[in-house]
Amino acid sequence: MQPIVLAVSLIFMAVVASAFIAAIRLASVSGGLNSSDARRKSLIVALMLFGVVVTVASLWRWPHDATATPGSVVVNATGYQWYWEIDKEEVPVGTEVVFHVHTQDVTHGMGVADPSGRIIFQTQAMPGYVNKIKHTFSEPGEYKILCMEFCGVGHHDMIAELNVIAQHGEISND
Ligand code: CUA
Repeated sequence: MQPIVLAVSLIFMAVVASAFIAAIRLASVSGGLNSSDARRKSLIVALMLFGVVVTVASLWRWPHDATATPGSVVVNATGYQWYWEIDKEEVPVGTEVVFHVHTQDVTHGMGVADPSGRIIFQTQAMPGYVNKIKHTFSEPGEYKILCMEFCGVGHHDMIAELNVIAQHGEISND
């Protein structure tokens, strides 16, 4: 499904882009640009370049679809109405943790909150998919795994604990 959505999105983007190119061609055929048109055109080009730079810079470290590398710890998190099944209660600080997030019923949202309650990352738990997200915890403490998407009357009860511990060595990758 996702490759089809990507292909359809790219086709629509190509259609919109070709409409813009056609409009620009028509504008240059009918009369040329005066100085304010030229200023506006260079401003638009500058904004587009700025947008491309910001997009590439902000998406460079894409955290999703993360592949576990040797040394990283894999945590399997499965959502149910209304609880999380987490196959590890502890993960080490300073080591890359790859969360494999899945659901056995409806769509849930898995968010991880630090000991102060601040959400540090989240991804969806979708039927039929395993979403992967990686994070390296820099502070030890008692973190919470929450549900970030309304999934029924017990939504607010979907809270699991994850201890990030300073010492490691006994946790293996599986
Ligand atoms: Cu699960 Cu809300």
